[in-house]
Amino acid sequence: MIITIDGPSGTGKSTVAKKLADTLGWIYFDTGAMFRTLAYGVIKYEIDLNSEPQLGYFLAHFPVTLKKQNGVTHFFLDDEDATMHLRRPDVTEMASKISTIQAVRQTLAIAQRKLAISGGSSIFDGRDMGTVIFPHADLKIFLTADPQIRAERRYLELVAKNPDPTLTEERVLADILERDTRDMTRDIAPLKPAEDAHVIDTSALSIDEVVAAIKKHIPGP
Ligand code: C5P
Repeated sequence: MIITIDGPSGTGKSTVAKKLADTLGWIYFDTGAMFRTLAYGVIKYEIDLNSEPQLGYFLAHFPVTLKKQNGVTHFFLDDEDATMHLRRPDVTEMASKISTIQAVRQTLAIAQRKLAISGGSSIFDGRDMGTVIFPHADLKIFLTADPQIRAERRYLELVAKNPDPTLTEERVLADILERDTRDMTRDIAPLKPAEDAHVIDTSALSIDEVVAAIKKHIPGP
């Protein structure tokens, strides 16, 4: 069985998906982290995004692998554990940028579908899981939330991980809105709810309340 959870950043997707997977004993796949690992590779190897041969070679030797260590998924770029770099602002910006490139999306689409085949019952979070990658998913969820609240959540998450006195909630809001616009207006796999998705506004809900709301929709055996 597959559950897809899509939506913009700061809606609680990853936290909700992880918690739901834990309570169900299912596997959780964070597809944003796959985009981020590739983005980290583009930066590390100085891939010229305007050079088709360079990008093509980089993608053909798909460098991203997921390894579970002590119950936590680590994202590897070739032999390097890239997990600790994935939330860096430059990696975040690059992930958003490469997500508009068709060849990048096609490569990750194959990787994501392979994970579903090998993974058993799974929860995938991302932007196009319900619309493009798994159109026949058993349950599709689309999370939304007020942009101001999403910015507040993302700001608290960022400063908890890496205290930065120059970071403000306004900056985080501006960045979120810019990346949302890029996600929603790109030609390929734009961010939008699938027609058969259940849309849940998480603005006023706790993580547990969102998990409970999703559980109500899980089809029975
Ligand atoms: O979810 P997260 O913020 O980690 O995703 C990083 C970036 O990857 C997003 O800004 C989005 O542009 C892109 N993404 C995507 N499709 C997905 C997952 C992420 O385009 N399925």
